[in-house]
Amino acid sequence: MDQNFQNNLAKAIPIPAIILDPSFRILAANKHAEKLFEAELIGLDFVRVLRQPIALESLAKVMRTRKQATCKLTLNLQTRRTYLASAAPLSGSVGGVEHILFTLQDISAEIKAEKARSTFVANVSHELRSPLTSLIGVVETLKGPARNDEKARERFLELMQDEAERMSRLVEDLLSLSKLEAKEHLPPRDRVNLLKVVQMVVRSLAASKPEYDNRVEIITTETVPMVRGDKDELTEVFQNLIENALKYSTPGTPIIVRISQNSEMQNRITVTIQDIGEGIAPEHIPRLTERFYRVDKGRSRQIGGTGLGMAITKHILNRHRARLTVKSKRGKGTLVSVILMSKPSPTDDNDELS
Ligand SMILES: Nc1ncnc2c1ncn2[C@@H]1O[C@H](COP(=O)(O)OP(=O)(O)OP(=O)(O)O)[C@@H](O)[C@H]1O
Ligand SMILES: [Mg+2]
Repeated sequence: MDQNFQNNLAKAIPIPAIILDPSFRILAANKHAEKLFEAELIGLDFVRVLRQPIALESLAKVMRTRKQATCKLTLNLQTRRTYLASAAPLSGSVGGVEHILFTLQDISAEIKAEKARSTFVANVSHELRSPLTSLIGVVETLKGPARNDEKARERFLELMQDEAERMSRLVEDLLSLSKLEAKEHLPPRDRVNLLKVVQMVVRSLAASKPEYDNRVEIITTETVPMVRGDKDELTEVFQNLIENALKYSTPGTPIIVRISQNSEMQNRITVTIQDIGEGIAPEHIPRLTERFYRVDKGRSRQIGGTGLGMAITKHILNRHRARLTVKSKRGKGTLVSVILMSKPSPTDDNDELS
């Protein structure tokens, strides 16, 4: 195999690729490999480039068996990544292994996705298990000791209703998340009056619990333009953010919702929700939008939360190419800001928004 052919072969491979001779000296390497190892590789001994015994073992195995050998490698180069390394024999005309083609396929994203999937399944099972255990326990009590106790029956039926409703909310939230994931790349095109959405949310929250009545103050100028969005989805966002402010603040304290237009970038509309209360410690803030993440698990569950509200909020806002920020001080309170766009602009899809 001449040098030119080796170079062309390495060049044609879209991932880091190295061609070695039987003594593991590098004969050719593509630009992906040189970028990864930040070195000119041709002429170097493989062992000086990659010191992992498992990689060397796979090369030795190719020489022994004349068959392809693969292994998983975690490399700490520019960043820590995991690769599927493959060493494949390139046979010469007389049959022996003349060269070895060594490639590194970055599988970090697959590993991360697989881990996220299994964590998600474990979380969903866990969240469903507690109401189910409680339901089974109550049914057994109703069939047995409480069979003829009218008062206990009433109480247990109410408990069963609570647990069934909790499971139903969980399933609804999960469905809502999966629908949002499917259409996340399609930005909504309707025009929405944010003030009306926020007013409706505040009214429905006040009607849902007497302690939420008269606590939310909306401050806005009359000239705030319509935003581009999906009315039902934005209702869900502000329902969660305003409800969170009500749930996790000191009872009776005011919640201020401000809707304003950015004076410099006029197509940016900001809604802030401010509460006075326990606040959120800084280490929790980046994790709030993870599914099922709650700062105080017991408390959130007891209030009836699924812990999916912020994950749904983030997905909806991503679809809206909108931005979400959370600022908080322990013991003082929390300020959540949402920045939406008032009208489509040609650069929309390139905007760097979370
Ligand atoms: N304004 C806030 N002040 C203090 N903590 C907050 C605030 N907003 C959110 N949190 C914390 O973030 C967690 C995640 O919020 P999220 O809306 O996802 O879940 P939830 O409100 O517990 O449940 P759900 O939204 O399903 O009813 C909450 O459990 C709470 O610990
Ligand atoms: Mg919530």
